[in-house]
Amino acid sequence: MTAMILKNGRVVHHDSIRREDVLIENGRIGAVGKALPAADGARIIDCQGKLIFPGIIDPHTHMGIPIKGGWSADDFTSGSRAALHGGVTTIIDFTILEPNQSLHDSIAARQRAAAGSMCDYHLHCNLTRFDRNLLAEIPDLIAAGVSSFKVFTTYREAGMMLSYGEIEQVAEVLAEHGGLLMVHAEDDAIITAAQAPLTAAGHIAPFYHGLSRPDRAEAQAVAAIAGIVERTGCPAYIVHLSSAAGLKAAAAHLELLLETCPQYLLLDESRYRRSDGRMYVASPPLRRPADNQVLRAAVLSGRISVIGTDHCPFHLQDKHPDIPFQDIPNGIGGVETLFPVLLAEFVRHGLDLSLLTRLLSTNAARVFGLYPRKGLIAPGSDADLVVVDPERVTDDWQPDLIGDPDWNAFDGFPAIFPELVIRRGVPVDRKGRISDVPPGEFIAAGSAALPF
Ligand code: URP
Ligand code: ZN
Ligand code: ZN
Repeated sequence: MTAMILKNGRVVHHDSIRREDVLIENGRIGAVGKALPAADGARIIDCQGKLIFPGIIDPHTHMGIPIKGGWSADDFTSGSRAALHGGVTTIIDFTILEPNQSLHDSIAARQRAAAGSMCDYHLHCNLTRFDRNLLAEIPDLIAAGVSSFKVFTTYREAGMMLSYGEIEQVAEVLAEHGGLLMVHAEDDAIITAAQAPLTAAGHIAPFYHGLSRPDRAEAQAVAAIAGIVERTGCPAYIVHLSSAAGLKAAAAHLELLLETCPQYLLLDESRYRRSDGRMYVASPPLRRPADNQVLRAAVLSGRISVIGTDHCPFHLQDKHPDIPFQDIPNGIGGVETLFPVLLAEFVRHGLDLSLLTRLLSTNAARVFGLYPRKGLIAPGSDADLVVVDPERVTDDWQPDLIGDPDWNAFDGFPAIFPELVIRRGVPVDRKGRISDVPPGEFIAAGSAALPF
């Protein structure tokens, strides 16, 4: 593999921004420093005026999964290409646990599905059934590099929910063996009680989706998980936190790691009133503008330490206007726009770009045991790099999207798409064109660390 050197750029580390050159050798970062000499035959890329970020990590994607009779629009191949277009070089997706299947088999099946991924990838293990045989598999899986286990406090009807008592037993096992509990936190009983009168009254419009999943359901579930964490000592990570009430329930529990998504920072429930309102149906739902504000403040303060997308897009046809909100496949996409849209927001508001590096790369790498291989620009780390021109803000980026979905949630937001994306030393995207690159690899988790 030809050596490459990125010259004269400003490197956006998690703790500082420095004018440095970056040498890439054999897929890894060989050196980072001032005025590095170019090795013989090295390709030189002038990054004057450009910013260099570590490859973005999206720790929450659902490529090609079945939901309510439909399939999410991107599979691993189309979704990972779209990811690369937007600067995401590593995705972390979820296994799908079939009836009677072991966790080991669910992981092997998902790895086969992910064979076409162009990004490197890692997997969280979904525990959507409580069974002592499954718990017995956990130590072995952690030793083999799958250490985050996701449970749901809702989706009872879909057969995916665990009771709080069952989750506590999972947490005990994880605490003993060094695993991480991931939680989709919405209390199912509150949702059932909120949805029943809406259904009885014949409400089917998308707006009622939000009313059927109130923020107190999130607060209740977060509080219950906080109790479990306190009693078991198991580290826990709340996925897609959506509301001020949920954040408040977590406030006194700093041991709860928090993730949110761009849709909960930038979009609000008024979207459900639009003609394409059904397309925004996701769980948790979009909230009020005040929730956006509170979550933004928590992102800026570092209390929310990771932003993922919950990438689960659908075609317009999959969410046909005639479908009542109760039956609309849940999910919104965003892996392709995650970094471009947030970068433009950070630049527009003059925010600390090192914070963006922590939120979109370093912290996910640390929490999920991929650090320092991922999430860091330093000698020995994988050469996953994103070069951007902070001046190249555009509103007209939708026609250039390459993902499979025919609709996206962030239309109208300014965005800064990468000039160049490098995945393990291979340039994969230049000026929006995707060339053939070797497939991505499964990256096993090592030791996890707290976010910065
Ligand atoms: O609506 C959503 N979020 N769909 C994807 C599955 C999940 O709950 O994360
Ligand atoms: Zn979820
Ligand atoms: Zn999800």
